[in-house]
Amino acid sequence: MAHGHGDHGHDQGHRQGHGHAHKHGTKDMDWSRMIPHLERGAEVYTPLYTEALSWLRASRPGGTGLIVDAGAGPGAISLQLAEAFPDARIIAADPEEALLARATERFAEAGLAERTGTLRVELPDAIGELPDADLIWAARSLHHVGDQRAAIAALAGRLAPGGTLALVEGGLPLRSLPRDFGFGRPGLETRADAIEDEWFDEMRRSLPGAESHVEDWPALLTAAGLKGAQSRTFLLDLPAPLSAAGREMLVDMWQRRRGVFEESLATDDIAALDRLLDPEDEQGLYRRDDVFLLVAHTVHTAVKG
Ligand SMILES: C[S@@+](CC[C@H](N)C(=O)[O-])C[C@H]1O[C@@H](n2cnc3c(N)ncnc32)[C@H](O)[C@@H]1O
Repeated sequence: MAHGHGDHGHDQGHRQGHGHAHKHGTKDMDWSRMIPHLERGAEVYTPLYTEALSWLRASRPGGTGLIVDAGAGPGAISLQLAEAFPDARIIAADPEEALLARATERFAEAGLAERTGTLRVELPDAIGELPDADLIWAARSLHHVGDQRAAIAALAGRLAPGGTLALVEGGLPLRSLPRDFGFGRPGLETRADAIEDEWFDEMRRSLPGAESHVEDWPALLTAAGLKGAQSRTFLLDLPAPLSAAGREMLVDMWQRRRGVFEESLATDDIAALDRLLDPEDEQGLYRRDDVFLLVAHTVHTAVKG
């Protein structure tokens, strides 16, 4: 099963040293600790989001006045939304004050304070003062909500007529190394993905109000009363040699996987991972010249009639 994180590494922000290796609900997530990871991820993923947002803009020829970035985190993608929609006002919405504070800081740094804002919103119920929007963008945030169907309905209810709801969920898992990278047992990335799928499922089941629905995003958008549901997948294809930021993102991802999956990874995989993460090792992620980045994210959209 691919959740389209491929890089759940992005998302493994749950508090460690908690003594509850199996508690992964959003309430356990230490999102403020994730700020640098989310920001670096957004930077490396810029080509993918640039393409996705220009596709989205082309799908809204009538213009877009107000955009809500639902589950915006530190606002890194909100900034890309501001660039892709230069006439729009952008609101970064998130339950986490620390992330909203960082978003405000970044908007000011980018000289965008005038046409941006933040709002504390927790889906599905505490949707607060969210005004009717022409575009609601919810990227990798919905899967942190126990009842995803209720969250989609709540967001659909805050669309202006003709407004678009765009969800980024699913895609293909990230690949960065050859299957056989010269030491350890070939196929480490595939095994880590399987562990991550288990982690993800536990995370979802432990969320408050967790409900299990078929994750057919176009069907869920349609069930919320929206029209013209469609999905389009965007590829991030950064061949070797990878930029320093790309390498840092991967090192970061594997470091967090190393911590979170310690109990589930086989001993030989942990030994291989330790070599990959060793800055002195010629064959580690810092130094080898064959590291690349290949991943896909899917955007699902539908429109309020
Ligand atoms: C993986 S981050 C994604 C951030 C950003 N959208 C991106 O693509 O980089 C998930 C975000 O969802 C937010 N989130 C978690 N639970 C939420 C909820 N119930 N309602 C709205 N947002 C939520 C988190 O605070 C976090 O900022």
